[in-house]
Amino acid sequence: MDLVVNISRFFVCAADELGNNEIRPVTPPGLGPVAVYRVEDAFYATDDICSHGHASLSEGEVDEDCVVECPWHGGTFDIRTGEALSFPCVLPVKVYPVSVEDGNVYLDLGA
Ligand code: FES
Repeated sequence: MDLVVNISRFFVCAADELGNNEIRPVTPPGLGPVAVYRVEDAFYATDDICSHGHASLSEGEVDEDCVVECPWHGGTFDIRTGEALSFPCVLPVKVYPVSVEDGNVYLDLGA
């Protein structure tokens, strides 16, 4: 029998555990790996796996313009929209809503 997990909100970490321009990989039940980013006081989340290969974006670098660079071939994405910004990346990565409540960061995954 398959286990079906349906959660609407996933706790990532306390907001102050993630420093500016840091990325944290998480794997919510029922989803693939997700990269959670902090840029200044804002939090973002995208699929962790690059759309070009199987690299982990959470092992890359994110800058103050909300652009993450893939560690394998240097392609880039806008973490606010998931848009691929530079070669060899042409396909977007999925983005996820993030909220902060009572000092904790959550992925909002819907019902
Ligand atoms: Fe990310 Fe190639 S695997 S740019």
